[in-house]
Amino acid sequence: MIVLGIETSCDETACALVQEDGRILAHKVRSQLEEHHQFGGVVPEVAARAHLHFLAPLVQACLEEAGLDWNAVSAVAATTGPGLIGGVMVGATFAKGLSFARKIPFIAINHLEAHALTARLSADIPFPFLLLLASGGHCQILLAEGVGNYTQLGTTIDDAVGEAFDKTAKMLKLGYPGGPALEKRAREGKATRFTLPQPLCQIPGCDFSFSGLKTAVRQLIEKQSPLTAQDIADICATFQETVSAILVNRLSHAIEKCDGEAVLLQHLVVAGGVAANQAVRQALKGLAIKKGLIFVAPPLELCTDNGAMIAWAGIERLKRGHTDPLTTPSRPRWPLNTLKSLEEKIW
Ligand code: KG4
Ligand code: ZN
Repeated sequence: MIVLGIETSCDETACALVQEDGRILAHKVRSQLEEHHQFGGVVPEVAARAHLHFLAPLVQACLEEAGLDWNAVSAVAATTGPGLIGGVMVGATFAKGLSFARKIPFIAINHLEAHALTARLSADIPFPFLLLLASGGHCQILLAEGVGNYTQLGTTIDDAVGEAFDKTAKMLKLGYPGGPALEKRAREGKATRFTLPQPLCQIPGCDFSFSGLKTAVRQLIEKQSPLTAQDIADICATFQETVSAILVNRLSHAIEKCDGEAVLLQHLVVAGGVAANQAVRQALKGLAIKKGLIFVAPPLELCTDNGAMIAWAGIERLKRGHTDPLTTPSRPRWPLNTLKSLEEKIW
């Protein structure tokens, strides 16, 4: 079985061909940095038009890279939400057209579930596992107990963690996208020079808040201005260290909750764009070791949005006998804990 995965929910046009055993036969990502750079953020209408322009040739290039023709493709999976609705509709409609023309199954993929299942593609881990989903639009702690079976233990009450990276980078004029730029500058900085707050960390629970942190960064910038290159690096390092500490604090509460409910956890998994951050990865690895868990972080190219995770989520669903009708809607919002659990029925 070979599945074509299509991802168009934000600012990456991406597709991949993945085999049932997890081998990635071809993998293409076309980032829209060029289109959105001048606006300092993603413009939904511009994104949708760029997906429309680039998707078909990208899929063709993917087939060529794998040395395959359409007869080799067993099914097509596409993100149908959550995300920027124009872009989601471009990818989903394209995939439905392929499914109709080639008479192959269509699988509607929840983008968040695709991030969640990436650890099973890269590391073949069993359920249940504890997942931190940390991306530009989401910051959630989930207990993953099966395909379609996720319990939310905590979420952000304001900004997502990737959004906090992006907004901080914007305040420091580091450009877009902010996360990788901020990480780069933090390497030259000292995290001990300034102190930033860790909202909600004084109280029990697994929810996050990043807006107070963002305000504190703005006040720090105002106080220190005009900023030297070293000031910027030190603010970046402090911000990154503070975010890592917040994530560790909230996750340790989640691990304790799972222990208290006798969940047999073995793995702590991080997924989503922020999982590409080395400081965050190190901090979470330290927590996992302390709690006797195995830490799993996908390779960097599978952390940010990509087509392989969509194809893999399609394979996980197909293996359990699940396909979707061509009438499946595209959804701007689609919480992970509203999915239906799929019975493990491997064919
Ligand atoms: O998962 P993703 O590619 O798209 C969404 O579904 O949101 O995540 C993008 C987010 C952006 O906010 C970006 O700044 C952040 O992930 N990000 C990072 C890094 N690479 C990407 N944040 C911190 N450090 C990084 N190295
Ligand atoms: Zn994503």
